[in-house]
Amino acid sequence: MLNKRLTAIASLVTKDSIVLDVGTDHALLPIYLIKNKICQKVLASDISPKALENAKANIKKYNITNITLYETDGLKDIPKKYDTLIISGMGTSTILSILATDDLPNTIILSSNNDLELLRVTMNKKGYKITKELVVYEKNKYYDIILYEKGKERLTKFVKEFGKSNDLDYYNHLYKLEKKIYEVANKAKKGKLKHSLKRLGKAIEKRKDY
Ligand SMILES: C[S@@+](CC[C@H](N)C(=O)[O-])C[C@H]1O[C@@H](n2cnc3c(N)ncnc32)[C@H](O)[C@@H]1O
Repeated sequence: MLNKRLTAIASLVTKDSIVLDVGTDHALLPIYLIKNKICQKVLASDISPKALENAKANIKKYNITNITLYETDGLKDIPKKYDTLIISGMGTSTILSILATDDLPNTIILSSNNDLELLRVTMNKKGYKITKELVVYEKNKYYDIILYEKGKERLTKFVKEFGKSNDLDYYNHLYKLEKKIYEVANKAKKGKLKHSLKRLGKAIEKRKDY
């Protein structure tokens, strides 16, 4: 069975789209997309020969023929036969280096391990808007998954930092983290930071800018 995070990513894939899964590792996501008839065919790539060996073994195990594998760095030398690009389980700097080209598809699904604000701001500048954002809690960790489509939008300060998931458990978790940071800082500077903390708390509660 596919884990919660990859199942959530699969839920954002449009039926009959042609997906490229970069950094596929075990290829479990492409296999799920084919087995569940979400996609007719999938392209999948990884920079690591070892990962691709695992992918090949899994594809063979499930007797699937319509997944094409590429051993390459990012999008390099992959024919532009896909309309949806998925990159998940990497950090923002790796994801952005893979996306450093103008030849990108209309739909991109990203799940980064870190620096989400940088990811949201850079994707916005590249001309992509957030169509949907999901948060999945698995193994004591929150995973953020963003569905992007070509288009313009104005990102509020709130969305840049916290996203559009509307997941209150996640916001509460972020709030607690922020609070901890402020508590520590407050020991050094009383007054000003307390005020900021109050404003931040209200903003998170109401999903408003602060
Ligand atoms: C943590 S795994 C994530 C696997 C899967 N995408 C997931 O979300 O479960 C990261 C994978 O990305 C691959 N990877 C890292 N940098 C890459 C790059 N520049 N191009 C292609 N694959 C890359 C690694 O080899 C590894 O298999």
